[in-house]
Amino acid sequence: MRLIISSIFALAFFQVPELTRGEDFGYDGVIGPQHWGERYRECTGKHQSPININVLRVKQVTLPEIVFIGFDDSIDGVHVTNNGHTVLIEVENEPHPRVRGGPLDGDYVFSQMHFHWGDNDTFGSEDKINHRSFPMELHMVFYKEEYRSTSEAVKHPDGLTVLAFFYELDRHEHPAYDDITLALSNVTEPYTSVIMSHPFSFLNILPYDLRRYFTYRGSLTTPPCSEVVIWLDFEQPVRLAHDQIEAFRELKSAHGKITHNFRPIQPIGDRVVFYNIDSNYFSYNEIDDPEEQTTTSRPYRRRKGHNSGHSNQWSLLCCLSALLAIICCL
Ligand SMILES: *[C@@H]1O[C@H](CO)[C@@H](O)[C@H](O)[C@H]1NC(C)=O
Ligand SMILES: *[C@@H]1O[C@H](CO)[C@@H](O)[C@H](O)[C@H]1NC(C)=O
Ligand SMILES: [Zn+2]
Repeated sequence: MRLIISSIFALAFFQVPELTRGEDFGYDGVIGPQHWGERYRECTGKHQSPININVLRVKQVTLPEIVFIGFDDSIDGVHVTNNGHTVLIEVENEPHPRVRGGPLDGDYVFSQMHFHWGDNDTFGSEDKINHRSFPMELHMVFYKEEYRSTSEAVKHPDGLTVLAFFYELDRHEHPAYDDITLALSNVTEPYTSVIMSHPFSFLNILPYDLRRYFTYRGSLTTPPCSEVVIWLDFEQPVRLAHDQIEAFRELKSAHGKITHNFRPIQPIGDRVVFYNIDSNYFSYNEIDDPEEQTTTSRPYRRRKGHNSGHSNQWSLLCCLSALLAIICCL
């Protein structure tokens, strides 16, 4: 009996650290990205991330507006954790922020966010744009609400969406990042965690323009590399001071400082990258056209701006009513 109990304990003791700490992959040598496929079959798949986005090859689209819910809330009790690979920011209290719209079908609920960086400011992002690297990249991970959890969502091809944001250097510090860098100084050791000292708002750490983004189907960029991610890469970078990026390089894994934690780019294969441009851009231009600016056309233009891409029936209905209005005026 004692033997059984102790072997259960031994099993629990040896398995839990491996599963939760994931010490079986890294970014160099025999546990580096070239070897992930040996243990995780999916890492050799055909629709892997990250990729290089060639701007000349993207397909321009106008998708419905993305709705960011709870992004300007002040969130208390935000956890900052060094998991040995990166720093994770997690939210404890419900309701979590969520997103819908854009290329997404249904609501996606916030799971966690984390960062990828490089040894110095010349590289560190995962996706690249026209082969340009950025010094750091933020991944905000959301799971599809209908799957109820991240662990269930990763079993479905549309299970996750990741909002990716690039960083570029600025001479000035970004004040919204002060609480993050302060927290980093308390989690330099692997597997340590701290609660952020002030309420945290998602919107404060994001760039201003959230309308222009690239989107494509890909994978997790860490093992098990599951091909379950709808990627949204926002075009406008966030600007941070060198010292604010440097603070991330102080974090340690079990093997020393995490000087870099980005996966090299993967073949794009048969995939298409879509580039969303602001849908309102066109409708505002139409409103501004003095020839068109009659009292009857105004509400029609507005409505079109809000629904474009959502439903063709609406545009058809609007077209018909505008036509009717024009005929009436004549
Ligand atoms: C950045 O790191 C790379 C690789 O270690 C090195 O080749 C490059 O010279 C470094 N650049 C700067 C500006 O330090
Ligand atoms: C982390 O450490 C700094 C000192 O370096 C301290 O001022 C701060 O309050 C600590 N806690 C958090 C949650 O940032
Ligand atoms: Zn990531």
